[in-house]
Amino acid sequence: MPKKVFIKTFGCQMNEYDSSKIAALLEAESGYVLTDSPEDADLILLNTCSVREKAQEKVFSDLGRFRRVKKGKPDVIIGVAGCVASQEGQAIIKRAPYVNVVMGPQAMHRLPQMLDAYEKTGEPQVDISFPEIEKFDYLPPARIEGVTAYISIMEGCSKYCSYCIVPYTRGAEVSRRFEDVLTEIAEAAEQGIREITLLGQNVNAYRGALDDGSTADFTMLLEYAAEIPGIERIRFVTSHPREFNSRLIDAYSRIPKLVSHLYLPAQHGSDKILAAMKRGYTALEYKSIIRRLKAIRPDLLVSSDFIVGFPGETDDDFNKLMQLIEDVGFDNSFSFLYSPRPGTPAASLPIDTPLDVRKERLAILQAKIDENTRHYNQMMVGTIQPVLIEQVSHRNSQSVQGKTDNNKVVHIPVTGNPESLIGQIRNVKITEAANFSLRGEFADGTIR
Ligand code: SAH
Ligand code: SF4
Ligand code: F3S
Repeated sequence: MPKKVFIKTFGCQMNEYDSSKIAALLEAESGYVLTDSPEDADLILLNTCSVREKAQEKVFSDLGRFRRVKKGKPDVIIGVAGCVASQEGQAIIKRAPYVNVVMGPQAMHRLPQMLDAYEKTGEPQVDISFPEIEKFDYLPPARIEGVTAYISIMEGCSKYCSYCIVPYTRGAEVSRRFEDVLTEIAEAAEQGIREITLLGQNVNAYRGALDDGSTADFTMLLEYAAEIPGIERIRFVTSHPREFNSRLIDAYSRIPKLVSHLYLPAQHGSDKILAAMKRGYTALEYKSIIRRLKAIRPDLLVSSDFIVGFPGETDDDFNKLMQLIEDVGFDNSFSFLYSPRPGTPAASLPIDTPLDVRKERLAILQAKIDENTRHYNQMMVGTIQPVLIEQVSHRNSQSVQGKTDNNKVVHIPVTGNPESLIGQIRNVKITEAANFSLRGEFADGTIR
């Protein structure tokens, strides 16, 4: 019987990426297979997030649950990885002494050695160091499934927004070597990947070393990635307005494979709050990026992250945020109340606005964004969209689902074998809009 590992992942796409890599590594080096039940597992891993207090607290409530599993099965190993591990280190073992291994995001590839050391000594193992991007050299390629893949190109953040824990938990921006990234994309393409999402905390801060000693920027990476046969679409998350330069904007006119959907977190719309957040741009500068992009791609949809209730946010500031949303017409957002993070500069600022006022502002913002989402979905009804067919629909085996270039999920009924359609890009006429997805039919009249 192979040993089993249960992995629970919180937080962003970087964590999802790390979890899939760590599963592949544990299988290759330690013979573990994945299980979806913690009760069945020999190794329980939590890959954690500390971007907001709530995310962090969830980790400790889950740990309590896994402690009970371990009571009945004392040999079970419990590991905590990711950003809470990075931030708390040894303190996790103090608070939860039944935890056996703790490793930060940059040390995850050392897990097999840490498990060996723990098994030999019985001593808890902690590694929250930031070795200079050696991680990617040690992680095996994750198993490729389906027709879309995430490709990590850089990690960490050197922006130090005043509210954010990420630069402390992930370390400074480090980019993978240019040729390494392109090789991984080419290998993915050979295995049937049609759409890639380039991944990093600030992808447009990418500065990748080339074998000849020079450096490539993000635009150059996009240009080369677009030349790889088989890759039909390129997305990226997350980019930063401060590094969205003219070269990158111009790339949208040269690279049709770059999708007409941009996820560019604005965070706020009041210049006073943006300055207090240390974002390094004004609302006008943000809008100017979008205006220039829309001149090239009139159909571009833009999504964002917003933080509501930052210290000092007045009604007037909030109105400016709503005005930015009105002006840009965001089609989607991840929006949360500001959560003070220990050790960040903003954590010492007083929050004077009552919680119910902040909650009401968030609800107003989210209602507006939902209205926008519905509006854009409705606008697409009757149009013909190229859709990359990704999988058989979860709820209906006689239907496939895919995504439009602008990132909308479309369900399309089919007869015959739906599997044979996966990986195709087909013209689909959008027939119906629901709140969070669309329905369509093949525009050439066929149903398969
Ligand atoms: N690098 C990306 C964001 C990564 S963190 C960027 O700069 O856009 C993901 C999101 O978490 C952020 O966009 C922000 O909206 C949110 N976030 C970060 N710190 C937060 C805090 N202290 N309280 C509330 N939300 C926060
Ligand atoms: Fe956090 Fe700002 Fe870095 Fe984004 S850019 S990860 S919000 S510090
Ligand atoms: Fe969370 Fe760390 Fe990602 S704090 S959002 S898991 S970088």
